[in-house]
Amino acid sequence: MRQEIRLNAFDMNCVAHQSPGLWRHPRDRSGEYNRLGYWVELAAVLERGLFDGLFLADVLGVYDVYGQNADAALRNATQIPVNDPMLLVPAMAQATRHLGFGITCTLSYEPPFTFARRMSTLDHLTEGRIGWNIVTGYLDSAAKGLGRDRQNAHDDRYLIAEDYMEVVYKLWEGSWEEGAVLRDKERGIFTDPAKVHRVHHASQHHRLDAIHLAEPSLQRTPVLYQAGSSTKGRAFAGRHAECVFMSGPSPQVVAPRVQGVRQAAEEAGRDPASVLIFALATVIVAPTAAAAAAKHEEYRSYVSVEGALTLFSGWTGLDFSRYDPDQEIRYIDNDAGRSALENISRADPERVWTVREVAEHAGIGGIGPVIVGDPAGVADQLERWMELTGIDGFNLAYAVAPETFVDVVDLLVPELQKRGRYKQRYGEGTLREKLFPGGRRLLTPPHPAAGYRPFPASR
Ligand SMILES: Cc1cc2nc3c(=O)[nH]c(=O)nc-3n(C[C@H](O)[C@H](O)[C@H](O)COP(=O)(O)O)c2cc1C
Repeated sequence: MRQEIRLNAFDMNCVAHQSPGLWRHPRDRSGEYNRLGYWVELAAVLERGLFDGLFLADVLGVYDVYGQNADAALRNATQIPVNDPMLLVPAMAQATRHLGFGITCTLSYEPPFTFARRMSTLDHLTEGRIGWNIVTGYLDSAAKGLGRDRQNAHDDRYLIAEDYMEVVYKLWEGSWEEGAVLRDKERGIFTDPAKVHRVHHASQHHRLDAIHLAEPSLQRTPVLYQAGSSTKGRAFAGRHAECVFMSGPSPQVVAPRVQGVRQAAEEAGRDPASVLIFALATVIVAPTAAAAAAKHEEYRSYVSVEGALTLFSGWTGLDFSRYDPDQEIRYIDNDAGRSALENISRADPERVWTVREVAEHAGIGGIGPVIVGDPAGVADQLERWMELTGIDGFNLAYAVAPETFVDVVDLLVPELQKRGRYKQRYGEGTLREKLFPGGRRLLTPPHPAAGYRPFPASR
């Protein structure tokens, strides 16, 4: 097969995730986000389309940067209301056999001890199909909900994250040896105590002296995803991430970031090609190019400009309600996400964005590209992105849910398969084994997690 194009679905346990206003579209069903049946149905669609995974974003706070209050976010359902992503997984896992689940959890507000157990539990219940999108948050409103005045400073968050990773690696990898669990009914020994070890950790941020509460799951450490692309974010990804999500409006913006992450992996002693990189995109596909263009126009008529600017204000930490719509956007450092603002300020020297242009662009699929066409036209564009950027695949957002995903599965996937660019069936094994063919279900050296497993892995 030519280089495979990998597909993930990008969603969140909320309404109209990256497409503010589109919840008003008559066929959009994202308003059913609080019903289990909606998610089970979506998981089945994605598995029919051989998607590698469903990636669920999560943010603990509310988007109250725009206008300095939560009114616009609430009016437009801009990622509020938002439910817990983890709790969706068991039902979707029960209805599928192969689909992976990349779950976003911030490490800024929960002790590693309880978090590690919840992830282990999900890895058990899904039989090794769990991934973790490691985030530190970007909204001060989240910090306030958790009893703090504001979030930690941008670069400090990555330092704290390093420490957190050490603790969870110790718990997942170093507490229970392979073979510790005997389930020996005859001798009456469930677990051999000699093979379970206490984890000690004492740092400025975390103290722990305990054994991990869960027995080892198939993957132990979930497949690690990461999405920050600032200098610190790239270095963190280079050390830890197995998969990286990126968002940028054009291949010109994304390509140097891809190179940066691969270089960071190399600097961390890892094979740069072993990190899978997915770019955010929204695909609007129909049997003919004209039908796809008409569908795009129709979708656009439901975009909420206020909702788009509310999202963008939260991502960048800048209150866009204060700017003239024709004002050009320039870069400034702050403690929200840095790559979001770079996307539309200094990442592409040939393109200067106004506030109005950002609002129009981000109305469907956030800051990623919207790729519109018949199946062949869309496939051509995806192939072009792959060539120009060196990514491994796409993280597909929706305009109208689940219609956007159904269209991709029914129309685009067969075209990619015909071109030898897409798998014909799933591989066997855990999410890690599926993503890295010939790979192993456990992390191996030189990944730092493997260094916390002081005993030989069975496989
Ligand atoms: C595609 C994509 C998805 C993201 N999803 C989340 C998310 O669900 N929750 C979150 O707190 N941050 C999310 N982020 C934000 C990143 O984790 C990170 O905080 C942000 O990109 C800023 O990091 P940077 O300054 O290193 O670029 C996402 C970023 C990207 C590009």
